[in-house]
Amino acid sequence: MSKKAFIFDLDGVIVDTAKFHFIAWQRLAASLGINFTEHENEQLKGVSRVDSLKKILEWGNEELSPADFQLKMNQKNEEYLDLIESLDTTDILPGVQDFLIALRSKNQPIALGSASKNARPILEKLQIIDFFEVIVDGTNVTKAKPDPEVFLSACQQLHMPAHKSIVFEDSVAGVQAANNAGMLSIGLGDANTLHEASVVFESFTDMPQDYINTLLQQ
Ligand code: BG6
Ligand code: MG
Repeated sequence: MSKKAFIFDLDGVIVDTAKFHFIAWQRLAASLGINFTEHENEQLKGVSRVDSLKKILEWGNEELSPADFQLKMNQKNEEYLDLIESLDTTDILPGVQDFLIALRSKNQPIALGSASKNARPILEKLQIIDFFEVIVDGTNVTKAKPDPEVFLSACQQLHMPAHKSIVFEDSVAGVQAANNAGMLSIGLGDANTLHEASVVFESFTDMPQDYINTLLQQ
C-alpha cells in the first residue's frame, strides 16, 4: 500500500484546547486593559506564544519592556496550564482516535506539527502520545506558522517528501504553513474561515467513509 505522511496540529484539531488558549489570552489582555473578540482570536490560532502577545499589544496599541513581555507570557501560560489541568482522554475531539487507529492499522507515518510548547504533556494526558512517530512542537521550531518549518521538519523526520504529506489544521496560519510547505491542507472547522485549505471538514466525524484510502490514492 502507498504511504503518505499524516501530520496533525494539536490545539483545536486533536483536542479542544483552542478555547482555553482564547480564555487565557483574553484574561491576560484584560489585565493590560485590552479587549478582543472571538473573531480576532482566529488570528491567534496556530500562532506562537510570542507572536500572539505581539499581536494583542498591537491591537491595544500598547508596548511592554522585554522583562514585562516575558512576565506576561509566563502569566498567560500559567493561566492556560490551570485551565487544562484536568484534561483527559474524554477531551480528545470526536473521531480523532479512530482516525489515528485506522492510520496505524494501515502502517502510515504519523507526526505532530504544533506551535505549542505544551504539546508533549498534553499528548500524555490524552494517552495518545504513542501514535506519533515524530513530534515537532514549539520547543524545536524557530519560525512560527505560517512559516512551513514545523511541517517540513516533521516530513523530513518521517523521511517523506512534502508533496506526499497531508496536514490537519484548524487555524488560518497553520493552513497557510501547510500550503507554503507544498502539502495537502485539510482544514478542521469553519469553511469560510479556512477557505485557503484544500478541503475543509467540521470535524473528523464528517469525513466520508474510507477517506484515508481516498487520501492514499490521490
Ligand atoms: C498553538 C495554539 O497550537 O500553540 C496557539 O493554536 C498557541 O493558540 C500556540 O499560542 C503556542 O502554544 P503554547 O502552549 O506554547 O503557549
Ligand atoms: Mg490549532
